Amino acid sequence: MKDGKLITMGIESSCDETSVALTADGRTVLSNIISSQIKVHQVFGGVVPEIASRHHLENINRVYVNAMEEAGLELADVDVIGVTCGPGLVGALLIGLATAKAMAYAAGKPLVGVHHIQGHISANYIEHAELEPPFMALVVSGGHTHIVNVDGYSSFTVLGRTRDDAAGEAFDKVARVLGLGYPGGPLIDQIAREGDPHAVEFKRVYLERDSLDFSFSGIKTGVLNYLNAEKQRGREVNKADVAASFQLAVMEVIVNKAVRAAKEHRRDRLVMAGGVAANSLLRKMLSDACRREGIGLYCPSPVLCTDNGAMIACAAYYRYQEGLLSDMTLDAWPNLPLETRKL
Ligand code: KG4
Ligand code: ZN
Repeated sequence: MKDGKLITMGIESSCDETSVALTADGRTVLSNIISSQIKVHQVFGGVVPEIASRHHLENINRVYVNAMEEAGLELADVDVIGVTCGPGLVGALLIGLATAKAMAYAAGKPLVGVHHIQGHISANYIEHAELEPPFMALVVSGGHTHIVNVDGYSSFTVLGRTRDDAAGEAFDKVARVLGLGYPGGPLIDQIAREGDPHAVEFKRVYLERDSLDFSFSGIKTGVLNYLNAEKQRGREVNKADVAASFQLAVMEVIVNKAVRAAKEHRRDRLVMAGGVAANSLLRKMLSDACRREGIGLYCPSPVLCTDNGAMIACAAYYRYQEGLLSDMTLDAWPNLPLETRKL
């Protein structure tokens, strides 16, 4: 406890960001140190799991020390240690987990395992002081595309999910075939601003009439086929037009389903989360659609959209309040379902 506030630490290492953060009463960020490995993986065009875990191991102590210094705290001041235990890359998750468990054991602090997506959703509580469940959530990241009915801080029902690629994965793959670099999401977002979104009509995939699921592998193939056909005709491709057309086709489907889910389940608030929630077109289209439908839209700032420890610390605070504690048997769970309450 510090100044009567419950201090929660959040440790995140599920993919290519090593992050440690400290929050007071869950929603006030005291520090949020994020060490990104993007540069390391860029040369490979994607995250290499073994290299990611090695870098987490090399970085985590420094990230921890910086987080404590910036918050002006010592381990004795920390009340709860939260850590992402899944889903994610198993070797990467293990580094955060081993760190959290060692500290919790040595300092006698409660340990709280956190589902990575609960973390992404919780980023909104940091940004929006008045936000409380229930609401509808759209989680769009490099590994996940979920529509989630959020009944409580740790109670979720997944209503729709991708059947193949995640939205961010599709952005990264299309950026690669366009030769834009990695990670592709922000690069497509940027170049698309100079392109015509109606230049190429890529097929919108809605699946069955009532389904809230997604499928993005078809559009990825659609882009590849278009590029090959243009090449065979000897025509130069306008990358900005392709990026803008691809982006619009993906976002139209996402916006349609997210708004439909909110309406069908009578939720008057929609919350965005995950790396792709930083996309400028998605933010614009969703805010227009929500305004038309009378739905309140919530979105974290870009730094809290992508992976960070603060969102994990915030989620751990609410899990702790609900008595959802973990013990030393807590393990890395690469495919952890969001509905799992006891971790
Ligand atoms: O949430 P996140 O940091 O990691 C996962 O949990 O997966 O999301 C990373 C993903 C990457 O696929 C990246 O390309 C995408 O988010 N992304 C974006 C944008 N910024 C990041 N996608 C589209 N537009 C953006 N502005
Ligand atoms: Zn993430």
